[in-house]
Amino acid sequence: MPSKSNNLLDKLLPKNDPEASKAQQTALNEEQRKVYEQLDSQFVPRDQSYIKRTRNLRLLPLEPARRGGKYAYGEWAHVTGIFQTLMYMHLDQKQDNLVLDVGCGTGLLGIAAEPFLGERGQFVGIDVLKEDIEFCRDHYPADKFSFQHLDVYNTVYTPDQASKNLPWDLRDNTFDLVTALSVWTHMDEETAFFYFKEVSRVLKPGGKAIITFFHLDELYEKSLSLRQPDMKGRYHMTPQTRWVFANSAYDSKYFFCVGKTPEKAIGISKEGIEKLQQHAGLKRIAYYPGNWKEIPGVYFQDVMVFQK
Ligand SMILES: C[S@@+](CC[C@H](N)C(=O)[O-])C[C@H]1O[C@@H](n2cnc3c(N)ncnc32)[C@H](O)[C@@H]1O
Repeated sequence: MPSKSNNLLDKLLPKNDPEASKAQQTALNEEQRKVYEQLDSQFVPRDQSYIKRTRNLRLLPLEPARRGGKYAYGEWAHVTGIFQTLMYMHLDQKQDNLVLDVGCGTGLLGIAAEPFLGERGQFVGIDVLKEDIEFCRDHYPADKFSFQHLDVYNTVYTPDQASKNLPWDLRDNTFDLVTALSVWTHMDEETAFFYFKEVSRVLKPGGKAIITFFHLDELYEKSLSLRQPDMKGRYHMTPQTRWVFANSAYDSKYFFCVGKTPEKAIGISKEGIEKLQQHAGLKRIAYYPGNWKEIPGVYFQDVMVFQK
């Protein structure tokens, strides 16, 4: 029967059927996603033509290229704003910054960093995923942005890449800021230690690093009794019980995971974070606990700021 609704979305989106089987629901979700993709490709350019109070959001990519578990346009814009604010707070009003983003995906933190590059600054993004690096090279202006593919193995992202833990092709003591959003949450212990030291190596003395974690501290322990089955988070939209790091990741004393494939989501104990800092010679100067701990947070994951 033709829809009587005047709402454009009701007309375009296939209807949910409470009686649908799992296979039918999966097919429906896929169909809805396709419609969303088409709407997004119309909406985003139109929305960008209305942007007035900021410049950098014009760089937000379309839905198929929005990574990091953040598919919604609004959420990308929101997370960009959060990290732009954190960068501002920790760059001490310096301009012309050299910024390195580890695990850049399709460039969310490049958009956040753009206002701080000035005339002489640069943004360098590194990722193990070749297709994301190729997307970034096409999408972001080459005068300010460059991207490097790291041919390194990760069980979840790059199971076909063979090398393990190659150092970055970047000079020592170069960067004002290193960032990583949702990347040390996908690294095993050996990889996490190796690249944390790389962060320290490439930072200028006094340079800062803004890195997110699942930090398994007292706030996490406290949150465990609040987590209910079949409930979405109080401040996020994922299941509360998804973020319980009960298993050791590859028999580590400090790294813990959620399911059978550790790199899907890894949390690090307090002692583990302290060991990382000691290993790399970085001092922690700020900690913003995330709302995954069922408390209101600056962001979903825990954000930490380190200084060399
Ligand atoms: C959850 S995604 C986050 C992407 C991006 N930072 C964002 O928030 O949109 C994790 C990213 O880390 C990358 N990654 C995993 N291991 C890496 C490593 N050893 N070096 C660089 N990137 C890595 C993955 O390829 C993926 O792009």
